[in-house]
Amino acid sequence: MGLKPATNPEVEAKPIELTIDGRSVSASDGVSLYDVISSTGKIVPAMCYHYTFDPFGSCGMCLVMVEGKKAPVRSCTAKASAGMIVRTEGDDLFQARKKAVEKHLSVHPLDCPVCDADGHCELQDMAFQHQVTNLANAKQKLIPEDTRSLVLDFNMNRCIACGECINVCKDVLMIDALQFMKKGGFNQVVAKGDQPLSCEFCGDCLAVCPVGAITNKFSKYLYKPWQLKKTTTTCNYCGDGCQMHIETKDREVVRVTSPLSWKNKWGDRSETAKGHGGICVRGRFGFEYIDSKARLQQPLMRRDGKLVEAPWLEAVHSIVDRFVDIKAKHGPDAIAGLITARCTNEELYLFQKLMRVAIGTNQLDSSARYGHINFVRAAQHAVGVGRTMNDWEDLTKAKAILLVGSNLTETNPLTAVRVKDAIRIYKSQVIVVDSTQTNIAKLSSHPMMVKPGSEGMFVQGLVKSVIEQDLIDTEATEKHPKAFAALKEAVSTLSFETITAATGIAAERIHEAASVFAEAPRAIILCAEGIVRRSGGYQNVLSLMDLAWITGKLGRAGCGVSTVTEEGNEQGAIDMGVAPEFLPGQAAFNDAAARERFAKAWGAELPATGKGATFTEILKRCRNGQIKALYVVGENPLATLPKSMGVQAAMEGLELLVCQDLFLTETARLAHVVLPACSYAEKEGTMTNLEGKVLRIRPAMDPIGESLPDWHIMTAIASGLGCQLDYESPYDIQREIMKLLPGYYNLGQPRKPAPNPDVYLSNGYSAEVKTRYQAEAVTTTQKAESFALTLGQLLYHSGKLSTQAPGLITIAPNTGRLHMNAKDMERLGLTDGAKVRITTAQGKLDIGVQADMAIMPGSCFFPEHFNEPPVKDLMAVEIDRYTGAPYFKLTSATIQKV
Ligand code: SF4
Ligand code: SF4
Ligand code: SF4
Ligand code: FES
Repeated sequence: MGLKPATNPEVEAKPIELTIDGRSVSASDGVSLYDVISSTGKIVPAMCYHYTFDPFGSCGMCLVMVEGKKAPVRSCTAKASAGMIVRTEGDDLFQARKKAVEKHLSVHPLDCPVCDADGHCELQDMAFQHQVTNLANAKQKLIPEDTRSLVLDFNMNRCIACGECINVCKDVLMIDALQFMKKGGFNQVVAKGDQPLSCEFCGDCLAVCPVGAITNKFSKYLYKPWQLKKTTTTCNYCGDGCQMHIETKDREVVRVTSPLSWKNKWGDRSETAKGHGGICVRGRFGFEYIDSKARLQQPLMRRDGKLVEAPWLEAVHSIVDRFVDIKAKHGPDAIAGLITARCTNEELYLFQKLMRVAIGTNQLDSSARYGHINFVRAAQHAVGVGRTMNDWEDLTKAKAILLVGSNLTETNPLTAVRVKDAIRIYKSQVIVVDSTQTNIAKLSSHPMMVKPGSEGMFVQGLVKSVIEQDLIDTEATEKHPKAFAALKEAVSTLSFETITAATGIAAERIHEAASVFAEAPRAIILCAEGIVRRSGGYQNVLSLMDLAWITGKLGRAGCGVSTVTEEGNEQGAIDMGVAPEFLPGQAAFNDAAARERFAKAWGAELPATGKGATFTEILKRCRNGQIKALYVVGENPLATLPKSMGVQAAMEGLELLVCQDLFLTETARLAHVVLPACSYAEKEGTMTNLEGKVLRIRPAMDPIGESLPDWHIMTAIASGLGCQLDYESPYDIQREIMKLLPGYYNLGQPRKPAPNPDVYLSNGYSAEVKTRYQAEAVTTTQKAESFALTLGQLLYHSGKLSTQAPGLITIAPNTGRLHMNAKDMERLGLTDGAKVRITTAQGKLDIGVQADMAIMPGSCFFPEHFNEPPVKDLMAVEIDRYTGAPYFKLTSATIQKV
C-alpha cells in the first residue's frame, strides 16, 4: 500500500522498522501510523479518516497503544517512527473506542428510521460493533436543518464533526467551500461565511460523510439503501469517463454515487494519481434525464404533416423502403448519416458499417468533428498517435503543465482535479493560457490571460522563445537539422512585438513560461477547445507538437501533448471509423491495404474514395439536393449550429429525415420518422475515455417505454437493407471489433502510445512549417463597444443533453443573460439585468447582462447549452481547411446599451 507522503512524495522518507502487534513492519519515517497499520491488512476503526486526504484526528476511534505512552494514541495523526512498538487490539482499546462511540451518540438524534444513511452509516456500524446499548446522558442538539443549498441539505444534529466533508472539499478538490462554525454551542458544518452553499456541487462531501448529516435533496426520503439496485457503469457526459454507480428502485433512478465513499476509506494514496473516485455535479445530479417524462417512448411517423405514434415494425419498414427507393433512384451517395459521440464504441462501429456496407456511402460523421478531430488528425500526422499521449497519472505527476485554451474545471472537472493534485502534491508549475480567468488559472503559478482567439499565437511565441533562449533539447533537434532550420526560419518572421500585441502578454512573461515548460523533466501540454475548436485548430495543435519536439517532450516518459474530450466517447467515435477519412482503428479510408482488409472482413465492397463528406459537407450536400436522406443518431444540429449554416433549409429539403434520439429535439421535430433510443443507463457496451481507456457501460434498468438501444435499431435497419448482421448483443459486435482491432479492448490499463515525429520531421515538414508561422494582421486599437463574443460550456451542463436534467437546471438555469466583466459593465453604464444590443456581422439581438469576474475585459460569454435568446445565430462560422471542423465559438461583436 502506498502511504501518505510525509511531505513531498518525491522526497524520499527514511526507511524505518517498527513493531505492530508483535510483528516487525517496514515503513517510511513520518507517515501516518494508521496507514502503516492498515498496510499490514489490519483494520482499526476510524471515522474521521479517509485515505484521500491528510488525517484530521477528531473522532477518537483509531486508538492504539504505543509503548512508552500512558494513554491510547490516535494512530491517524501519530507519525510512524523507528523502533515504535504498537498494539492495536485489547479490551482496554475496545473500551476506549466504545467510549468514543458513546460520546458521539450521546448528542445524536437517533432518527435512524427517517435518515437516508440508515443501513449505510458508520456510526451505526460502530455502535453495533462496540455493543453500545445504553446511552445514559443523551441529549438533543435541536439544530434546525439547513436547507439553503440547491442540492444538499445539512442536518447538523447528525454531524459527528469528523471534518471529512471539509477536508475532501479543501484538500482533494481545492474548492474549500465548507467550514466549521460554532453555533448554538456546537461545532457545525456550514458553507463558507454561513451563506447558502455556492460551490461546484460535486457532492464529494456527501460521499465521504459517514453519517446522514449531509443529504441529497433529489433523493431524500425516497429510499432505504438496501432497497436500491446498484449498477457500476461509466458516466456518459464528458470524456473523463468516471466510474459511477447508478442506484435504482424499480424503474426509477434514485441516486448516483461513486467509488469515493466513507465505506472505501482504506485505499492507496499513491493510487489517487489515477483518480480519487469522485464524480462531478453532472455525474451526480444530472441523472434525471434518464427516466424523464419527456423521453420518447414509441416511434413517431409523420402523417399529414404531424408526427404521430407508430409501431416499430412499420417505422423500420418505412425507413428501409425509403432508403432502398432513394438509393435505387439516386445512388448510395444520396444518403448520409450523423451520430453523436455519446454512443458506445459498438454502436459507433456498427453505424459506420451500416453506412458504408448496407447503404454504400462514405458520407458519415460524428460530433467529434466539432474539434477533437483536429487533435487526432494533427497528432496522427505529427507523431503517428491519434489520441492523447498521457493518462491521469502522468498529468498528476507532471512538474510542468501547459494548459492551453481550456476552462478545464467546466468541461472536464475530474481531469481538473488531477491538475489540482499536481499543483498541491507534486508542486507542479502550471501555465494557463486562456482568455478567461479560469478556476485552474487562479490556482496556477503562471496564469496567462490572453486576448480571445490568440492562444495559437501565444504558442508560437513559446516556440520562438524556446529557440531564442536556447532552451532546446539538442538531442531531439540534432536528429532533424533541416526541420529545425526550417522551424527557426519560420519563427524568425514573427516578432515579440507582434505576439505581445496579439496576445496581450509581455515578452518577458512568454520567456518565463517557455523556461518553466522547457526545463521541467516531466512536462505535459494539455490543450482543449480554446485551441482545437477555434480558427486554425489543426495548425495550432501542430505548433504544440513543435514546442514539445524542440524541448524534448515527445516520447519521453511522463511528457507529451494531450487533450480533453467534452463528450463521452469522442475518441471512440474516431477510433471506430465514424469519419469519412478513417476506417476503424484510424486506418486511412483511402489506404488500399486497409480497404482490402475491411472489405474482406465485411464481405462487401467499400464506397469509392474521394466521395466522402464531413458534417458540414453533409449539410451542404443536403442543402443543394445531392443528399436526399439523412439518418441522425443522437445529434441535434439544428440547435447546435448557427443559423448561417443553413441547417433548417438542409433538413427541410430532405426526402427522408430519420432521427433516433432520447428526446424530441429541435431536429427531430422536422423528421419524417423519429425512433426512440435508450440512454446509456439502459444499454451495455463500452466507451473510450480521454486517456484511451475502454470502459464498460452496464444497463441499470430496462428500456423506457418501447425505446431500444441504438445498436439494436441499427442492426434492424441494416438487416432490412439486406445486410444480414447476426448481432444478438453488443458482445457480438465487440467480438468483431476485437478481431479487426486486436488490443483495442484493453479494459483497464490504457496502452501507452509511443509518439514518434521522425517520419513527419523528415518528410515535408520544412515546407509545411513555413505556412504555419505567419503573423496575422493585429488590431491594436479597440473601440469602446467592440467585444469578443464567445460561446462556451458551464460546469453544470454538457451539450444540450444536461438541459433535460431538472437537477442541473435547478443549479444552473438559463438566465438568458450575457456574461460580462463588471468593469465593462460600469464603462457602458450597465447594471445586472440591464439590456444591451449585441451586433455581429450575422445579425443582432437584445439581451440582459450579468457581471462575471472570470470574463476578461473586452469579451463577453454566453453558455452554449441554451438557445434562448439565440446567441449562437450571431456567431461567424469558419470551416477548417484541413479537417473540415466548423468553428463558431468566437466572433467580434459590438455591444450597446439599449
Ligand atoms: S459539493 Fe463538492 S464543492 Fe460543494 S461543498 Fe461539497 S465537496 Fe465542496
Ligand atoms: S457533515 Fe458529515 S462529514 Fe461533515 S463533519 Fe459532519 S459528519 Fe463529518
Ligand atoms: S461529467 Fe465527466 S467529470 Fe463529471 S462525472 Fe461525468 S465523466 Fe466524470
Ligand atoms: S480516525 Fe483517527 S481520530 Fe478519527
